[in-house]
Amino acid sequence: MKAVVVDRSAPGGLKLTEVAERSALPSEALVRVAAISLNLGEVRRARNAADGWRPGWDIAGTVETAASDGSGPPAGARVVGTLGEAAWAERVAVPVNALAVLPGGVTFEQAATLPIAGLTALYALGKRGSLLGRRVLITGASGGVGIFATQLARLAGARVAALVHRAEKRDAVLPYADDVFVSDTAEAASAAGPYDLILESVGGAVFASALKLLAVDGMLVTFGTSAERTSTIEVAPFYLAGGQSIYGFVIFHELEREPAGPALARLAALVDAGKLDVRIDGVLPVEQIGDAANRLWNRGVIGKLVVTF
Ligand SMILES: NC(=O)c1ccc[n+]([C@@H]2O[C@H](COP(=O)([O-])OP(=O)(O)OC[C@H]3O[C@@H](n4cnc5c(N)ncnc54)[C@H](OP(=O)(O)O)[C@@H]3O)[C@@H](O)[C@H]2O)c1
Repeated sequence: MKAVVVDRSAPGGLKLTEVAERSALPSEALVRVAAISLNLGEVRRARNAADGWRPGWDIAGTVETAASDGSGPPAGARVVGTLGEAAWAERVAVPVNALAVLPGGVTFEQAATLPIAGLTALYALGKRGSLLGRRVLITGASGGVGIFATQLARLAGARVAALVHRAEKRDAVLPYADDVFVSDTAEAASAAGPYDLILESVGGAVFASALKLLAVDGMLVTFGTSAERTSTIEVAPFYLAGGQSIYGFVIFHELEREPAGPALARLAALVDAGKLDVRIDGVLPVEQIGDAANRLWNRGVIGKLVVTF
């Protein structure tokens, strides 16, 4: 079986090569992979990993062999799913609770974008309870998570502001947000605040300036540092405002409490109904996985990049 592995001498540090295949556990279905999508986090991790490490979180494909304990989708079902690593392969064994059957109107390419980016957006937005009539700010709004989060917050009834870094990416976000701000800091977004919920994935000055825009009882969910890992914040205004909180979010912790399958089914149903747009910036064959990783790393992507097997 062929899979993507880290190889420093290959373009983008990744290559497709023959690997040993592990057999499925009784509660796992064997899925023939049709499409995967790339996330900044796994590309970053692959760049730091030793040769031979196998990246990959998001897959869509067809069940080749159903789980032997009789649970989950049958052979032949079109599915989307997620793994903690090593998902970029021709065939993968996936726990059935991390799989969802795809509606007929959702392509493998669309489905492959949903797991990490879509689940991060969905679960992070769920941290502040009902969003009906709330004000929400999404930073890094032109990215894979950001474009989903902006749309999902609006679908949930929030008034949504989007913070975009590069001006050329503004138009991609415009249809999904009530207000779009282009800036290196969140200060610009104060015009539409204060915010009951902020999804923050940029870090550095954006984290610090976004924190100042929280409403009383508002929550900032921090889940990324696309720009900068370190931030200096003003502590007193944060606690004196009353009831404000910062939630540290990592999707793999959330998935331990809320398995991916049902949430992926919800996201796929929204795509099928035409309510959630999947913004695919490019589809490349798996032989070009290194080029795809470089493109994402060099910020040349709006929304998601998909690779097909
Ligand atoms: N904790 C978790 O479980 C979890 C889950 C998913 C993602 N993440 C993290 O969340 C972040 C977003 O993920 P993603 O997959 O959406 O990544 P992505 O598609 O690469 O998007 C990153 C976004 O951040 C923006 N950005 C990058 N550098 C910036 C800067 N210096 N100032 C302002 N904005 C900047 C980008 O805008 P430009 O291209 O215009 O610069 C882009 O909109 C990543 O850091 C990722 O590692 C964490």
